[in-house]
Amino acid sequence: MHISTYIILMCLGSVQLDQLKEILEKAELEIYIEETIPSVNPRYKLHYHITPPVGWMNGPNGFAFYKGEYHLFYQFYPYDTQWGPMHWGHVSSPNLVDWKTLPTALRPGNEQCFSGSAIDNDGILVLLYTAHQSIEDSPFYNESQFMAFSIDGLDFHKYKGNPVNIFPPTGTQDFRDPKIWKNGNYWYVVLGSKTADHRGAVLLYRSKNLLSWEFKSVLAESNGGLGYMWESPDLFEINGKFILLISPQGMVSRGDRFKNTYQTGYIVGSFSYETCQFKPEINFQELDYGHDFYTTQTTETNGKRYLVAWFGMWESLHPEDIDGWVGAMTLIRELDLVGSRILMKPVEAITKLRQETILEGEFHHNSTIEFEKAGEVIVNIDLSENIELEFVGNNGGDRTSLRWSVDDGKVVLDRAGEVRQGIWEPLDTITWRIFVDASSIEVFCGEGELVFSSRVYPNGNWRVINRGTQALHVVAYTLKRFQNE
Ligand SMILES: *[C@@H]1O[C@H](CO)[C@@H](O)[C@H](O)[C@H]1NC(C)=O
Ligand SMILES: *[C@@H]1O[C@H](CO)[C@@H](O)[C@H](O)[C@H]1NC(C)=O
Repeated sequence: MHISTYIILMCLGSVQLDQLKEILEKAELEIYIEETIPSVNPRYKLHYHITPPVGWMNGPNGFAFYKGEYHLFYQFYPYDTQWGPMHWGHVSSPNLVDWKTLPTALRPGNEQCFSGSAIDNDGILVLLYTAHQSIEDSPFYNESQFMAFSIDGLDFHKYKGNPVNIFPPTGTQDFRDPKIWKNGNYWYVVLGSKTADHRGAVLLYRSKNLLSWEFKSVLAESNGGLGYMWESPDLFEINGKFILLISPQGMVSRGDRFKNTYQTGYIVGSFSYETCQFKPEINFQELDYGHDFYTTQTTETNGKRYLVAWFGMWESLHPEDIDGWVGAMTLIRELDLVGSRILMKPVEAITKLRQETILEGEFHHNSTIEFEKAGEVIVNIDLSENIELEFVGNNGGDRTSLRWSVDDGKVVLDRAGEVRQGIWEPLDTITWRIFVDASSIEVFCGEGELVFSSRVYPNGNWRVINRGTQALHVVAYTLKRFQNE
């Protein structure tokens, strides 16, 4: 920032020094991002998924509908392709498909801006997030809850009275990811935490005015089998049931399940706003069966519950880190609950990205579909025979195979030998809807009863090859980039 800019702003006289410092730091960051974008290597950059403009992205935050647009924030470190002091990146969309990059919403101060949520409070966009502070000369940290506000959905100001009085009853240092919503005259917030003996837990608080909060209940806690810490909780109603969504850390892999470093899943149950008690009815189930799916945000508009997740996983490799960016969000999904299972479907408006129909008809053994970086493949299948589709770059790279195994009754996503699989009992349609982007694959089986989300890294154009003997009925489209202006 040029000294002349300081002087001009000082002469204007209307801004105080701390405000001035904030304005300048904010401008400096946006200039840094603008100047760094041209050095990003686009080879793996996703075309129709949210990615950071530069730097590192992890979990989604603050998914909310505000003044006619959807807003989504994310854990962001602009200055490196590795995790660093957390900012909140920001995007908005009119339709959940086209996403525009907005200025960074939160920058760390004495605190890092860890995950949280957002709500529209009578025209004010309120962010509630975890302020993560290291405690000097110790391995310990402090997690308290901070608020920030915006009246235009662009410019955010931290509340001067932080922290908000939401404190853990047990005094644990792990107390984060507030998810806020309104019901009747009250605001509610759930936070992820753990018990004193290291079992994951979700705590519920209530407030009339957003500033003064009352602890209501331990909504649920791990019996020991569900990990030592629960992150990113959410609680919402769908088809008369309540879904407690959690991202547990420390679950032990069992058979085909819980294969990733950490999990994201849900417990179906009932909840009473009178007693603030949640009664679990169906055991924890994973939401997505792929390699890269951790921590979520949901929001509801027009009676529809939308979900987005970090399209990533702690401890996985990110070949794009030498390209100047890392991390992505999954496609936005619409949720439904049928029986005991949450169904996830890609948001309906995603069809607007379809460009060219490259195949509609029989897809024979060893035939190939090829397209550049982004496509959608819909496969109608006959489950009485094995199926094998191979996804690979025309210049090599990751080889991914999607299979149906008649003997096991399982759908298998095999990313270069790392297998994720699940039993599939189709509810209705016997189709796979597969979305591939420059370095990702998402497979939606049937009505969304089984979904796989994985980052995969082909080199060059995408090639899809039918390696099975069954001729498949396929419709394949190329997809265009989402509009980000
Ligand atoms: C944690 O941080 C909050 C907000 O800055 C502060 O009020 C509280 O005293 C801190 N607790 C500890 C143990 O440092
Ligand atoms: C299909 O391709 C594979 C791999 O190139 C080859 O081994 C196989 O023989 C081919 N199948 C037929 C029927 O030609």
